[in-house]
Amino acid sequence: MKGVVLAGGLGSRLFPLTKVTNKHLLPVYNEPMIYYPIKTLVNAGIEEILIVTGGNNAGEFLRLLGNGSEFGLKHLNYTYQEGEGGIAAALSLAEHFADNGKIVVVLGDNIIEKNIRKAVDAFRKQKDGARIMLKEVPDPQRFGVPVFEGDRIVRVEEKPAEPASQYAVIGIYMYDERVFDFIKTLKPSQRGELEITDVNNFYIHDGKMEWDIIDGWWSDAGTFESLQYAGNMVAKTGANTL
Ligand code: G1P
Repeated sequence: MKGVVLAGGLGSRLFPLTKVTNKHLLPVYNEPMIYYPIKTLVNAGIEEILIVTGGNNAGEFLRLLGNGSEFGLKHLNYTYQEGEGGIAAALSLAEHFADNGKIVVVLGDNIIEKNIRKAVDAFRKQKDGARIMLKEVPDPQRFGVPVFEGDRIVRVEEKPAEPASQYAVIGIYMYDERVFDFIKTLKPSQRGELEITDVNNFYIHDGKMEWDIIDGWWSDAGTFESLQYAGNMVAKTGANTL
């Protein structure tokens, strides 16, 4: 199975830190942010990885990561997103790379304490469909939030004012090859983006969504508070432990 790290966007919630550099090059404690999602994939046994970047300083990813030898990889693949369009728009650039296979997608600003090997192995065995990962959080209104009926997720709501559960859908997603056809039918949301939550709802309506709850802490790092929190947690426990 192949992996995709989405590391584009303008990082506008971190202005002026992101005025001259890409968010995913900023430090999270002692490493650049992009190191963490790459390790998330490598620790799950994924060796073929595509980095989708864009905006300013895209060339710096090559200078920083090279062929990925620091992560035990033989090579890394790169692609460039022109302009802004949201997570699903960035993911659509991975269609050629995915080559009709299943993929694991990690948002470049999502950092986890432990590893996702068990969930990825379960997805390898899953015949088709998709798989999302959940974490109980104090502030679900900041995220995609699953709505449950019993232990079945009936839909995901993006940043709901009144969350239907205490869980966030974290930025690690597993999809079969149909994801690219779903993305082609999406319309921009109110914030002008192609939403990954809409992609997840396609699979849910199709009865093809599985889910897991992630072990250990999880944080995004796209706001001042979460960037600082993630750095503190990495300092305290380390990240991507096996
Ligand atoms: C995105 C997704 C959201 C998800 C979050 C995880 O939010 O839209 O569903 O819970 O990533 O980090 P964004 O960071 O684009 O606001």
